[in-house]
Amino acid sequence: MTGYRPPFPWIETLPGAAAVAHAGRQGWLDLGADAPPLLQGVLIGVGVLGPDGKQTPAFAQAWTDHRVDIMARAQFYCRAASDVAGGLGDLAANLPAFMDRAETFRLFRYETAQSTDPAALSETAQWVDYLEALARVESPVLAPLMPFARGDHVLEVGGNTGLMAAALAPAGVRVEVLDLPAVCALGQQRRPEVTFHAGDGREITGHPIREARFDGVLFKSVLHDWPEEDAERMLSQALSLLGDGGRIVICERDRPGPIALADPTMQGLANLVFAPFYRGASFYVDWMERHGMVVSVERLSLDMPFILLSGTQR
Ligand SMILES: C[S@@+](CC[C@H](N)C(=O)[O-])C[C@H]1O[C@@H](n2cnc3c(N)ncnc32)[C@H](O)[C@@H]1O
Repeated sequence: MTGYRPPFPWIETLPGAAAVAHAGRQGWLDLGADAPPLLQGVLIGVGVLGPDGKQTPAFAQAWTDHRVDIMARAQFYCRAASDVAGGLGDLAANLPAFMDRAETFRLFRYETAQSTDPAALSETAQWVDYLEALARVESPVLAPLMPFARGDHVLEVGGNTGLMAAALAPAGVRVEVLDLPAVCALGQQRRPEVTFHAGDGREITGHPIREARFDGVLFKSVLHDWPEEDAERMLSQALSLLGDGGRIVICERDRPGPIALADPTMQGLANLVFAPFYRGASFYVDWMERHGMVVSVERLSLDMPFILLSGTQR
């Protein structure tokens, strides 16, 4: 997409993603051990290894700094590639059948994240790692665009392990995260400076945060996960937490047009499996206007077109 450069070019083709995912799982990228010649050939071809079989300096640096993000993306891309190759028809016309079979959707087990036992944490970490890999690129771009002011107290519903909260902290915006129990537990381990509340954004009656008043409630890439009824329920719960003049902020990938749908990168393919869920601005604008809010909409482009909506109470 315009101006957007994928952070890890080595995995933006299917051979590259599959080779890095496999070699990474086998430990070949860490040990410097020889991968089988065909795999080594692919790794050389995509620039992970030089002709001498050693990691290229650029990949070696990225691997040292971002190996978890690289592996999370490469493995997710492989799942998405297999889902799209075998299931584009269902993705387009029979979404329940697609979701039933999709490797990508099998990963996101929100029910498992209700528990915080070691098995649930380890399973949840797999999809949390992919979300973090995306958020590490998105948060630095989006945080400065968020319509919050220094001193604001914000609740981020579905704020995952707190990357956006951490990105907003230097601007003096105090963000607390409400998310599923296992996600909060992982967030607490990874970012102890952020306050996490385990809960369900659809129903906060009786939850201790019900007593607080916030200047803003943020939903970043959360509402598309839910059918309209649940999304509206989350928004209503958010409204009940706002103080006077408070605002609801929604940031989502926009409903994709032909260019985004046919994005040839692996990130584009990974986004394609979620394409039917991205609603576009009008659903959220209508809800905010029906609830008497003054609404503004901004559009920007990252790996896909994004919308950033803000609704302020009159
Ligand atoms: C697609 S992820 C987006 C995460 C993060 N906001 C980001 O943009 O990277 C959706 C998030 O919503 C959380 N979530 C799902 N159901 C939820 C619920 N009922 N209440 C609160 N959070 C929920 C998930 O655990 C996950 O962190």
